[in-house]
Amino acid sequence: MIYDNHNRPITYLRLAVTDRCNLRCFYCMPEEGIKYLPKHQVLTYEEMERLVRVLAQLGVQKVRVTGGEPFVRAGLMDFLHRLAEINGLNDISLTTNGVLTAPHVDALAALGVKSVNLSLDTLDRERFRKITRRDELPAVLKTLDALLSVGIQTKINAVVMDGQNTQDLIPLVDMARTLPVDVRFIEEMPFNGEGSHYPILHWTHKRIIDEIRAHFPDLQKLPDSPFSTSAAYQVPGHKGTIGVIAAFSRTFCGTCNRIRLTAQGTLKTCLYDNGVLDVRALLRSGASDEELTAAFLQAFSQRVANGFEAEQQRDTVTESMATIGG
Ligand code: 5AD
Ligand code: SF4
Repeated sequence: MIYDNHNRPITYLRLAVTDRCNLRCFYCMPEEGIKYLPKHQVLTYEEMERLVRVLAQLGVQKVRVTGGEPFVRAGLMDFLHRLAEINGLNDISLTTNGVLTAPHVDALAALGVKSVNLSLDTLDRERFRKITRRDELPAVLKTLDALLSVGIQTKINAVVMDGQNTQDLIPLVDMARTLPVDVRFIEEMPFNGEGSHYPILHWTHKRIIDEIRAHFPDLQKLPDSPFSTSAAYQVPGHKGTIGVIAAFSRTFCGTCNRIRLTAQGTLKTCLYDNGVLDVRALLRSGASDEELTAAFLQAFSQRVANGFEAEQQRDTVTESMATIGG
């Protein structure tokens, strides 16, 4: 196992296989979309597979495939099959918006995919259309049904947005009454492709919990799983659980075990950093596995302590979450 300079193990890789997406969630992208990377700047599946192998030898055990939307990239299922064969990985998961996912759910289960994070900010079709700028709620709900029917652990990711979906908090919590899902509310971050954000974040993790507690006074705190960024809760009697992710308040950096590879092969050791290593350049200059390993270790030995430090060391964030890789 590899530890960083703050004694945190690095065991979890979030791998963005594309920066492209078939939705336009306003907290992630402007309506006209972002300027996508030209194909040759995106890592090939072969390159990604090699990097995951090298990282697995360094102690990475879990890979979450993200995007953009992973299913807009052709050949994703073949790639997942190849990932599943890498020694040392014991958890392959996926974050998806669910629009194209339903037909692949059986294959995901057969592959041993443990959990899927499904982005779903509202159960109201009109608000869904407004938030994502596409009328795709029915397709997403079909994916949810399919995931539950094959027994893949499903987490619902809902970004809490002032003036957009706060009326959806309680209906989303209520999903956990009858469904074995983990509904997670995420503080909105400024990763919307324009860098804009509110002067103050009104819907903080504390306010989200207060709001839920006002409707479900017996809401209980559950023990958090180690390294989880989500604070776990449950309404007694409900099948599923509730989570709150302080993505903007950054309360969880002290136990952060995760690194990211963007679609263009930039290593990020913090969600809020500007990229700490151009892995694609190294790869394409013919680096050996040993040289890649040395470069990764060097980056892990210089990790920032937390997301505030990372933010201080860079210009204002203007990327989209799709570029960063969920
Ligand atoms: N703030 C918070 N969460 C975001 N996501 C995307 N953009 C933002 C943002 N600006 C979430 C989506 C997705 C996850 C990978 O990141 O809900 O589920
Ligand atoms: Fe696509 Fe996810 Fe960004 Fe929405 S948040 S536009 S689903 S990548």
